[in-house]
Amino acid sequence: MQSPAEREILEVGSRLLTSADSSVHSPVRAIDKRALERASQDAELRTALLRFVDVAPACRSPADLAAHLIGFLGELHERPLPLDAAMRMGSSKAARAALGRAAAAGVRHVAHRFIVAEQPGDAEKVLRSLWSEGVTTSVDLLGEATLSSQEADRYAQRCLDTLDSLAGIYAALAPMPQLEADSIGPIPRANLSVKVSALTPLLRPDAPELGERDAMPRLRALLRRAKERDVHLHVDMESFDSREAVTELVLSLLGEDEFRDGPSAGLVLQAYLTDSPELCERIVAWAERSARAQPLVVRLVKGAYWDHEVVDARQHGWRSPVFEVKAECDRNFEALTVRLLKTRSHLRAAIASHNLRSVAHAIVANRALGGQPRDVEFQVLRGLGDELQRALVREGLRVRTYCPIGDLVAGMAYLVRRLLENTSNQSFLADQVRGRPLEELLAAP
Ligand code: 2OP
Repeated sequence: MQSPAEREILEVGSRLLTSADSSVHSPVRAIDKRALERASQDAELRTALLRFVDVAPACRSPADLAAHLIGFLGELHERPLPLDAAMRMGSSKAARAALGRAAAAGVRHVAHRFIVAEQPGDAEKVLRSLWSEGVTTSVDLLGEATLSSQEADRYAQRCLDTLDSLAGIYAALAPMPQLEADSIGPIPRANLSVKVSALTPLLRPDAPELGERDAMPRLRALLRRAKERDVHLHVDMESFDSREAVTELVLSLLGEDEFRDGPSAGLVLQAYLTDSPELCERIVAWAERSARAQPLVVRLVKGAYWDHEVVDARQHGWRSPVFEVKAECDRNFEALTVRLLKTRSHLRAAIASHNLRSVAHAIVANRALGGQPRDVEFQVLRGLGDELQRALVREGLRVRTYCPIGDLVAGMAYLVRRLLENTSNQSFLADQVRGRPLEELLAAP
């Protein structure tokens, strides 16, 4: 027998899916099923991609990037046929250059789905059009794993400029009441996400204080500007080895008197980490104690570095920090959703998942806990959650789309993460493409 809550989740989930289905064609649906199966099973290919991500920050141009990619793929024992033909072609210098250009063009084509624009100025049209559809955004300037302090300074400066331009763009837009407030109060229209690994080259697991100290002045400058401009500043979470430094950095800066009355800011909780319930308690306790005018926004995600964490732990002989069984991660996500929603008023919950079950569960849990629909924010990634985004808007819910801006070189690690998570055997979106029945997709994990 299904409980009333489970029946409601099935009902909400089915409605979202029907509504999503009638929208425009999704890029995810276009993923070729055979390609999906192949990439899911090919552990060697996945590891080659991860190693490639490590060198990507040092690449200077798309051609350089393509040359490295070809190098990594060249080490595979068994290559998919088209790739193999391409590699044979690449035996002369001229052919290699042509191949580099072709690879860069191919990647650019894929990148176009996930990256809004190469330059912040060119993103304005997309941001305005999303707003008119009832969707707001969090802009992300691509680039991470900074290698020098000059690079970190440049990233911080680009963030400062973007805070200014986002404030200008969003100030000029028509009112959209459902996006501008919840039961607690007003919510800034504009929102920027930043990565600490781009704000310091010194983020190292063996000395977290070093990275924290080095990133602090740059993050402080961003918080000041965000406050002046009334833009929300969100600090992304990255791989596990920087988790402590990022958490400490954000909570200590936001605890300073200077930031007591602004800006609105937040951090991320990754439900795939087995110890995330403890971190959640730490964040909840901090938020309950905090005297900040704007409650902390906690973006709840499953986590985008799963392959990296598993490979890293295996290489070092450590216990993996992530749940290796998908259902356990999904159950944890639901428990954390409830925990965050119960702490409403001390913090704001943003549910960031493309898994229809997780999303439907959050909608139903919010209602059961007495929240208004606008009291929970839903976040999707540009190019992956487009259908879900429209379905959520039709339900009258508050939606924010994560919109990366930047060039291919800066965006490579981001693109590889999207590729790995969507070709994962256990991905919800892949299950959907494979045609798994609705009742199974929406069943309790
Ligand atoms: C990432 O960069 C979306 O923050 C997430 O993969």
